[in-house]
Amino acid sequence: MAEKTPGSVTMEKIVSLSQRRGFIFPSSEIYGGLSSCWDYGPLGVELKQNVKQAWWRNIVQGRDDMVGLDASILMHPQTWAASGHLEQFTDPLVECKSCHLRWRSDEVADNRCPSCGGELTEPHLFNLMFKTFMGPLEEEANVVYLRPETAQGIFVNFQNVLTTTRKRLPFGIAQIGKAFRNEITTGNFIFRSREFEQMEIEYFVPPETADKWFDYWLEERRQWYLSLGIREENLRLRPHSKEELAHYAKKCYDIDYNFPMGWSELEGIANRGDYDLAQHAKHSGKEMTYFDEESNEHIVPYIIEPSAGVDRSVLAFLCDAYGEEIAQGELRAVLHLHPSLAPYKVAVLPLSKKENLAKAAREVYDDLRPCWMVHYDDTQSIGRRYRRQDEVGTPYCVTIDFQSLEDKQVTIRERDSMNQIRVPIAALKETLAAKLAGEDLFVLPEGGQIWKEEGK
Ligand code: GAP
Repeated sequence: MAEKTPGSVTMEKIVSLSQRRGFIFPSSEIYGGLSSCWDYGPLGVELKQNVKQAWWRNIVQGRDDMVGLDASILMHPQTWAASGHLEQFTDPLVECKSCHLRWRSDEVADNRCPSCGGELTEPHLFNLMFKTFMGPLEEEANVVYLRPETAQGIFVNFQNVLTTTRKRLPFGIAQIGKAFRNEITTGNFIFRSREFEQMEIEYFVPPETADKWFDYWLEERRQWYLSLGIREENLRLRPHSKEELAHYAKKCYDIDYNFPMGWSELEGIANRGDYDLAQHAKHSGKEMTYFDEESNEHIVPYIIEPSAGVDRSVLAFLCDAYGEEIAQGELRAVLHLHPSLAPYKVAVLPLSKKENLAKAAREVYDDLRPCWMVHYDDTQSIGRRYRRQDEVGTPYCVTIDFQSLEDKQVTIRERDSMNQIRVPIAALKETLAAKLAGEDLFVLPEGGQIWKEEGK
């Protein structure tokens, strides 16, 4: 590493680390990449799955007022007429008369091209939905759209879920899935892309309680990011102005994260009122109501929608976790990822490649793998191997040395403190389980010892 003094996080460092260590690659890179599309590599896919799993556990598994759904990406085209996306899901597009680059007119100042300063055309409205055709004939009657939000899959299944689960208000339907938007301007790595994933909740409530539930979800969702290690000072809540509100929203707040390029939206919490259910009832001719047994009336519930981006969450977790410090006279880059998000929970490192040590280390590795994603590394010096694991956020390294063959003990080294403890192999799994669950590192199993890695 050329730089010798610890610096702060930048987008360049995150992009470089992501590519170098196999978190995120440009899509179809061998052909020069595809603008604003990204592939998650071996470590990235683990991190992304862990983010989704943490959300699902918290939102679906952990609550009895929530059920899950996995709707298809392609939906009946009437969906988008009813939802208002065909008419309203547009951005104002302008083109530079000199260099022909295209921009969103609300993102340029003084009607001049941000790239060459040229004059811009008058804005025209550009629909952000990707269009394709169902079946072999490319004609208007066969047009379908790639969904621009997962939410509509939930609304059109409202009655199906209600009748099959017999849920009572308030209750929610949660979904994780891909969404597509033909964004005019993309960029900032995975922050704004044309293919991305959303984690959406549609929470159905009696209309008169909508404000209370809106406030509840705003705080609940903020707490989720904090519980996974995002620093409080890097989150803020921002209300939408009237002009900014989406066509379906009565009220909306963004949970913004302080990304390296500045404060930007991580998640939106909207009060969608009865807009969606009423629109789908009108366009489909089907009943989209809930029978309230207390009042003996059919009502159209209001919907509170916490809508988060998976990719933006991954980016926020990476940025927030990234740190640099001097350890043993060298710059060490560390991802202080929450253990539940870290791609690998444990790395098994034999001190040498000698056969008897390798055999013992392999046994430990095989024993731990059914429990967690575990990495095995026997190349280069132990110091270098620790640094490599620090850089990808592995919370614990287990080192097997020659003494391990005698005393049947191994060393556990912790990423953040660089503390090391020695524990019996027989107690390794239970010790790691306790540590990964957040229990104190200094609570040792019987026969354990603790010391500090030199240089910190
Ligand atoms: N159903 C409501 C909805 O889709 P949104 O604010 O347009 O609301 C919700 O999107 C979340 O989806 C955003 O907060 C962001 O995290 C993510 N998102 C939206 N557009 C995105 C894009 N082009 N690239 C990556 N993530 C995006």
